Amino acid sequence: MPVHALLNIAVRAARNAGEIIIRSINRLESLQVTSKGRNDFVTEIDKAAENEIIAHIRKHYPKHSFLAEESGETRGADGDTVWIIDPLDGTTNFLHGFPVFSVSIACQHRGTLEHAVVYDPMRGELFTASRGGGAHLDNRRIRVSKQRGLDGALVSTGFPYRANMQHIDAYLGMMRAVMEQTAGIRRPGSAALDLAYVAAGRVDAFWEIGLKPWDTAAGTLLIQEAGGRVGTLTGETYTQGGNLIAGSPKAYEALVELLAPHVTERLRDS
Ligand code: IPD
Ligand code: CA
Ligand code: CA
Repeated sequence: MPVHALLNIAVRAARNAGEIIIRSINRLESLQVTSKGRNDFVTEIDKAAENEIIAHIRKHYPKHSFLAEESGETRGADGDTVWIIDPLDGTTNFLHGFPVFSVSIACQHRGTLEHAVVYDPMRGELFTASRGGGAHLDNRRIRVSKQRGLDGALVSTGFPYRANMQHIDAYLGMMRAVMEQTAGIRRPGSAALDLAYVAAGRVDAFWEIGLKPWDTAAGTLLIQEAGGRVGTLTGETYTQGGNLIAGSPKAYEALVELLAPHVTERLRDS
């Protein structure tokens, strides 16, 4: 199946952003860093990468709309096509020189995710998907793992560390349950990449509370196209942003069931 023009544009934009990020890792101390809130930092690189992605897409599609982490919503003449962008997912890792971060770009048409790119500039790994065309890592087709439950499963997550601290007790309950039932937990530090790893079968399932649409849009399509499932903490349809569980179909179902006793009223509403 030929690669769709929109996906090609997204790939080029993600690679350009990746270059900006990589060029800066030898001068982390001199970067301009501002804080958007407790433990929520933004660097000049997040902004430069986002500007590059949007400029590249606009050059080809001047009418499209955008939802990007640093610049927010920008409505173009074509409000039906929205690019959802996280220019640097894993800023905390990046700031520390911990080499796990990614660029995440999704293209949505009338509310449906159509194309997705998650790019890991450190490893040069490119995860892509187009609706109906499967998911790929570089040029190889990827699928979620064949894991049939949680016994022996490797599960990744994101720890609360910002405003979502109010859910820490509920979260620790979940973590304990997952530790007791699986082969282990990983906290790599880039939700978009975590989802791409679910799609590639490198981890069997993932969960996190308090995510944003730009963290999850591309990863959601990658997983769906790789044969996996993405839903809310209670196993309902996930509509970008909020609390999420993802995995191979069986691992997903098992994780929804395992976490259910820890999903508080407040978590259900958030
Ligand atoms: C964060 C990363 C992290 C996740 C946070 C996200 P950012 O994105 O994906 O893994 O735990 O929830 O906000 O701020 O580095 O783009
Ligand atoms: Ca993010
Ligand atoms: Ca980010």
